[in-house]
Parts: sequence; C-alpha cells; structure tokens
Amino acid sequence: MIARPRSSFFVLGLLATATACAGPSVAQPGSPAAQSGGSLPESGGAESAARESGSALAESVWAGIYSQQQAERGAAHYLETCSSCHSEDLRGNSNAPSLIGSSFMFLWGDRSLGDLFTSIQTLMPTNAPNSLPPQSYLDILAFIMESNGFPPGTSELVADPAFLGQIMITARSGL
Ligand code: HEC
Repeated sequence: MIARPRSSFFVLGLLATATACAGPSVAQPGSPAAQSGGSLPESGGAESAARESGSALAESVWAGIYSQQQAERGAAHYLETCSSCHSEDLRGNSNAPSLIGSSFMFLWGDRSLGDLFTSIQTLMPTNAPNSLPPQSYLDILAFIMESNGFPPGTSELVADPAFLGQIMITARSGL
C-alpha cells in the first residue's frame, strides 16, 4: 500500500461538511436556503462551486482538477512504469528523485503542471522516454497530484497545454 498524505483533504472535507450542515439547521424548513443547503454536492462543495463559476480557485492544483478514478489508473501505470526507480511510495532513492512531499515541492513548487507533464513525458522513463500514450502520462500526473495531497474533483485532467501551463504547483499556504 502506498502512503498518501491526505490530511489537508480531510480538513477540506470536514469544512465542507460543516458548511453543508450549518445551512439547513439555521434556515426554516422548506425555505430556499434550506433547499440549496440540502442540494450541495457531497464533497468539495465550495471548491467545485468556485471552479464552475470560473473564479481564481479554478486555476489551482487545489481546485479538484483530476478525478479519483484517473489517479487510480495512474497508480497502476506508476507501479508498472515508474516505481522500479522512484520506489512504490514515490520517495525515490539515491538515483531517482522523490516525487512526493517537501522534496517534490522544492523541485516543482511555483512551476506549472504543464512543465511537470512535459518533463515526465519527454524524459521518463529514462530508458524509454515518451513511450506511453499521453493519456497514461496524464493519469500518472493525477496520481502524483493525489499522492501530494492535492484534492480530486469531478472532472479529469486533460492534455490541454494552455490549461496545464497556467496551473501552478503551490503549497496550500500559497493560495
Ligand atoms: C530507469 C529508472 C527510472 C524510471 C523507470 C523512471 N524514472 Fe523518473 N527519473 C529517474 C532519474 C535517474 C531521474 C533524475 C535524472 C533525470 O532527471 O533524468 C528522474 C527524474 C524524474 C523526474 C524529475 C525530472 C526533472 O525534470 O527534474 C520526474 C518528475 C520523474 N523522474 C518522474 C518519473 C515518472 C512519472 C516515471 C514513470 C513514467 C519515471 N520517472 C520513471 C529515473 C527513472
């Protein structure tokens, strides 16, 4: 099993739950507020709403820009293609760099998701660069995002260079 830091995701989930619960309890039953409170999505309500309304949060690794299923596919590709060098827990070793945690943020912080995608696709695996279909590289990118605690959302990450290029990899406090 691969360890995945998800504490920030849990905090978000708790916040979303608290918000969703607060609405109906203060509103009169049957009032518009109670109805809209009741129809909030089950998770990530605030962030997916922000994404739909096109706010700045939509252009963030924190906005839920990949899906859980995509990350699961990526995990399978990762185990098959990358883990021999970067290790199953993504922590790397003396040859291959860690793809997780503070060393990942040190290398990739304030760079774009597009940069990371291009690096992986054009350089990895070192013995056969660009040997996977683009979709597999995207799925692996989603898995790396999940492993670094960036939350999943409802839509999949797509190979749109303009979109990927504007998404900066930022720590939570950088929002
Ligand atoms: C045969 C061993 C090997 C395999 C397999 C491998 N890597 Fe690497 N990877 C390395 C080494 C060595 C480096 C550091 C030197 C370099 O950047 O070429 C590296 C560097 C990286 C970097 C940093 C690149 C940069 O520009 O700094 C990323 C990201 C990465 N690998 C991701 C992956 C992913 C994702 C896969 C699977 C598709 C993968 N690697 C497969 C050995 C490997």
